[in-house]
Order: sequence, then structure tokens, then C-alpha cells
Amino acid sequence: MNEPSDALVFFGATGDLAYKKIFPSLQSMIRHGHLNMPVIGVAKAGWNLEQFKARAQASLQEHGGGINGPAFEKLCSLLRYVDGDYLDPTTFTQLRQALNGAAHPLHYLAIPPSLFGQVAQGLAQSQCNQGARIIAEKPFGRDLKSARELNKTLVRYFPEDAVFRIDHYLGKEAVQSLLYSRFANTIWEPIWNRNYIAAVQITMAEDFGVQGRGKFYEEAGAIRDVLENHMLQLVACLAMEAPAGDGEPLRDERAKVLSMVRTLTPGDVVRGQFTGYRNDPGVARQSTVETFAAVRLWIDSWRWAGVPFYLRTGKCLPTSCTEILVQFKKPPQQVFGREARGQPNHVRFRLSPQVVLALGTRVKKVGETMTGVDVELILQRRPKDEMEPYERLLLDAARGASEFFAREDQVEQAWRIVDPILGHAVPVHPYAPGSWGPAESGKLIIGEGAWWNPNSQPDAIEKEGVA
Ligand code: BG6
Repeated sequence: MNEPSDALVFFGATGDLAYKKIFPSLQSMIRHGHLNMPVIGVAKAGWNLEQFKARAQASLQEHGGGINGPAFEKLCSLLRYVDGDYLDPTTFTQLRQALNGAAHPLHYLAIPPSLFGQVAQGLAQSQCNQGARIIAEKPFGRDLKSARELNKTLVRYFPEDAVFRIDHYLGKEAVQSLLYSRFANTIWEPIWNRNYIAAVQITMAEDFGVQGRGKFYEEAGAIRDVLENHMLQLVACLAMEAPAGDGEPLRDERAKVLSMVRTLTPGDVVRGQFTGYRNDPGVARQSTVETFAAVRLWIDSWRWAGVPFYLRTGKCLPTSCTEILVQFKKPPQQVFGREARGQPNHVRFRLSPQVVLALGTRVKKVGETMTGVDVELILQRRPKDEMEPYERLLLDAARGASEFFAREDQVEQAWRIVDPILGHAVPVHPYAPGSWGPAESGKLIIGEGAWWNPNSQPDAIEKEGVA
């Protein structure tokens, strides 16, 4: 189906995701001239349209950078609201009426995965699935088994090319830019393999806790919440082979490389929980859910055999930052032998809060001796009016462009990788808020290396006159 969507329906319209991400994206889409279709919110809150508009207004004030007068006015003219239970067929009859003959609605399931099946079925029974597309929010299932069941349910009512499994990391400008750089330059390919690369580290750190999402988080934990999806997408973008072109080949290669990632075992993972998590509303007093996870994974491919990929994520860490560090091997010999060996080369991709590409290299110190210093050559970009991931992905889905969405096989590979470490496969270690997680995570690193801590690193490298 190539026709663009002509109505946007979002389930979970009074929920957290709509409040924090969807309304702000809608206002931005209007500002960029990208939204001209009715937007129908569905929820069971006992609300009317005016209350729904008030919610949109509050969301834009809190999370959308404020109200943009003309854009908000237009948004209000597009908003519709259907109040009802997802189990009740009349909710879908009302939706059918609100769609007012739209031929290609885009249905966004901003609801817990346990409700996906019910809503998909309601859409089918009311024929709201005809000519439609559906966006499913992550996490897509809870494990491999439930993800497979969910896939089966969705494709019963929607063909695979109409299913858009969203992972907002794929909509991030920084992630798309990483992917672009890999395949738009010649310099990376000769060194992007086991012959030159010693290890890869990815840290996704957040300096805040669960922010009132304790109930959700108790069901998820760091592995289900971000490691299985956002972080494995980053691994796929870094490690995949060159695709035959954009579009579907991009999804083929992401799925292929994940299919070569070895299934994790308990020895590859360290789980942590920050002290104080159990006092959060919605969290069990004896909870053993992880707010920190670190893993060591291996890709059994010709390109990556023997190169460890270290992934680490956590809440209440010292900083909020997502960074990838590609560490190269040491030079084969030390020619200028009377100094301490420097650090091997690295490439550092900072994905947030700023976009940074840095090349770690060693240069000679000015002076009479042949001694050196480690420096970074840094490229930093501050784009103006960048599209937020949800805006970009909603736009893509409305156009039927699926390259930055996860396909069924990729989602199943991701769950296959983490399945044995879900739940209580390994103990959870306490850690102090503001620390880099439990010390046990250091044991995952093979050899003499250590975790690269994003914010502290610039101080660890002497900066010497390189502009
Ligand atoms: C979400 C997780 O998917 O991603 C959150 O549910 C996490 O727990 C968030 O904070 C991080 O996204 P971003 O874009 O802020 O890095």
C-alpha cells in the first residue's frame, strides 16, 4: 500500500506517552507543514473533547516547548476524541464514525502490550483495519514467547507491511547520522572489523530515577525497557553489513546481524538496583527488578568474531548521556620506547545530549623528546530545529516508510538474545544513586580495560593545543 494515511488514531490518548511525546510531535508536525489529517484520541477516562484539548495544551506547555499559537489552533481543529473501553465493541463503532470515511487510518497503540491483541481485534471487527496501518509501541512483548504470540495476533488483522513496531532510537537524528556516516565514507570500512577493533562499549546513562513510572518499571526493568530494544538497535546500526540500498535492505541487515549475536548467558550480565528505588510509588518493597544492567555480548560473524561488545544502562547514574566507544587495537610495537604507552585509538560517538564524533589519537608533545599525549579531534554539531524522533517516525509511518521500524524477525532475534537473562537469572546488586552502578559490572570487561564513563573521560585525557 503506497497511499498516505488520512487519519491518525491514538489509543492511550490520556496516558503518559501521549502527554510527553505524542502531543509535542503533533504540534511540531503542524509547524513543519506535515499534518493535515484528523487526529482521534481513544481512551477510557470519561472525558469529552474539551478536556482532551486541555490535556493537549498542558502537554505542550510542559513537554512541547510551549504553545505555538497558530499550530495549536490548527491542532485543536484536527482533534477528535472517543471515550470507551477497549473491550467494548461500541468504542470501535464510535471510532468508525469518527473516522468519517477515512480510507487509510494510522492506528497508534500507545498502550501496554497486553492490550494490543484486544485492540487489534476490535479494529478488525469494526473494519477499522481496512486499508489501515498500525504502530505498536515498545516493548513489543515481554519475552520471546509473548513477542511471537503478539506478532501472530497482529498479522492476523494487519499484513506485515502495515505493522510499524516503533523504537524511537531509530528515529533519532544522531542514530540515523551514525548509520549514514558508516556507509557514506570510505575510511571506516577497512578498519571496521576484528582486525582493528579491540572492543566496543555502549553506555546509555540517565541521572534520574523512574519518575513516577514505578508500576510500569516493575513490569519491565532495564533489560526489557531499553537494553532489548534501544541498545540492541544501536548494536545493529554499528555492526551491520552494508545494505544493498535504503528501505527494506536496511531492515534485512539489521535483522541479519542480530541473528548472529550469541544468546546471552547469566555469566554475561550484571544487574543492579539503585538504593531508594523500592520507596518509589508502585514499586514492591522487596522488588528485585533491575534499574541497571550491563552485558557483554559477542557477534559470531566473520567481521566481529572475538570482539566483545559491552552494553551498560542505568537509572540514577552520574550523568544523562548515551555514548558509543569503539576501541582500536594497540599499535604493534612501541617505536619511541622511553615513555609510558598511550591509550589505543578510539572513535567516540556521543548520541545525546549533544551529537559528537571524536577521534582519539596520540600526537607528539611539542619539545625535544619523542614523547606524546592522547588527544581527541572533536566534531560537534548543534542542529537547529531538529525533528524529534516521534515526529519523524509518525511521519514515516503515515507515508508507509518502514525502514526505521523494527521488523518481526528483528524483534524476535532481540528477545532471543536476552531471553535467558530476564527475570531473576542473576542476582541484583544494590548501588548508590549517582554512582556508575554496582562494582561487579567491572568484571565483565576482559583483560586490562575498564568501563569508559562518559562525562569523566574528557578530564582523563590531556587536551593539548588541538583546536
Ligand atoms: C524509553 C524508556 O523507551 O526510553 C525510558 O522507557 C527511557 O525509561 C527513555 O528513559 C530514554 O529515551 P531518550 O530518548 O530520552 O534517550
